[in-house]
Amino acid sequence: MREIPSLEFSLSGKVALVTGAGRGIGLGIAVSLARAGADLVVADFDSNVAEEAAMQIRALGHRAVALRVDVGQADSVSAMIDQVAEHFGGLDIAVNNAGVVSLGKVSELSVTEWDRIMNVNARGVFLCCQAELKLMRARQSGRIINIASIAGKVGFPDLAHYSASKFAVIGFTNAFAKEVAREGITVNALCPGIVGTGMWRGEEGLSGRWRLPGETEAQSWERHQSSLLPQGEAQTVEDMGQLAVYLACAPHVTGQAIAVDGGFSL
Ligand SMILES: NC(=O)c1ccc[n+]([C@@H]2O[C@H](COP(=O)([O-])OP(=O)(O)OC[C@H]3O[C@@H](n4cnc5c(N)ncnc54)[C@H](O)[C@@H]3O)[C@@H](O)[C@H]2O)c1
Repeated sequence: MREIPSLEFSLSGKVALVTGAGRGIGLGIAVSLARAGADLVVADFDSNVAEEAAMQIRALGHRAVALRVDVGQADSVSAMIDQVAEHFGGLDIAVNNAGVVSLGKVSELSVTEWDRIMNVNARGVFLCCQAELKLMRARQSGRIINIASIAGKVGFPDLAHYSASKFAVIGFTNAFAKEVAREGITVNALCPGIVGTGMWRGEEGLSGRWRLPGETEAQSWERHQSSLLPQGEAQTVEDMGQLAVYLACAPHVTGQAIAVDGGFSL
């Protein structure tokens, strides 16, 4: 009888890079990859949070290097990849997570704000993938995970620019996956639903800014979970970490945009 190979969720001996890893989903994914055995490069625009994240990974018993990067700037991304090569000699897993959000109706949105969101969320993913490919191609092996969103599958009012950037990530991911499919490299998009990070919580987060008159930020957060999500409750950074570990292991899943959103999207 043909032996069925087991899929081992071990990343022991692997090197992973996560952008925007200083907090939120990026930090959660970095910790999950480390728990599965990987050494980490944690890169963030904010070098202080990147260093704190690296300390957290080292406390788990793994090597971790903190880098400052602006994913929207080609020189900065190129320097980050040079540093990865210098510290670890190669790259097995890349999670392009850094992202920004803002609210604005199309009728009022400035071109500057459109460009700012597209620059980090869409151009940043392109620049990172292009740079990471050089290291992965050298070994004919790699796993790239681009963080998109449910807003990359469905449009939301006030988020047209953000949705456009995340639809771009999904289209880019599918096309890029096909370009490198014969080189041992997989490329997938992970689409979070609603996760209570700084992007959503607090007065400056989406639940603060989408408050109804008389509603507290916490009440707005509860309302958005129950009204938007079929399961009625938010996802966690650990949920995102689980799928990232799976995608970092799976050899034959590529070009996909997989949502972890409690049943919201297709
Ligand atoms: N939180 C959610 O519910 C949710 C839902 C869908 C998608 N996402 C996506 O998940 C990713 C992470 O979101 P989050 O909720 O953890 O956000 P967050 O704001 O909590 O963290 C984002 C991190 O990215 C870093 N960053 C921002 N701009 C950067 C740049 N130019 N270069 C490098 N680093 C930069 C920030 O310093 C921060 O540490 C984003 O791409 C976001 O669009 C989040």
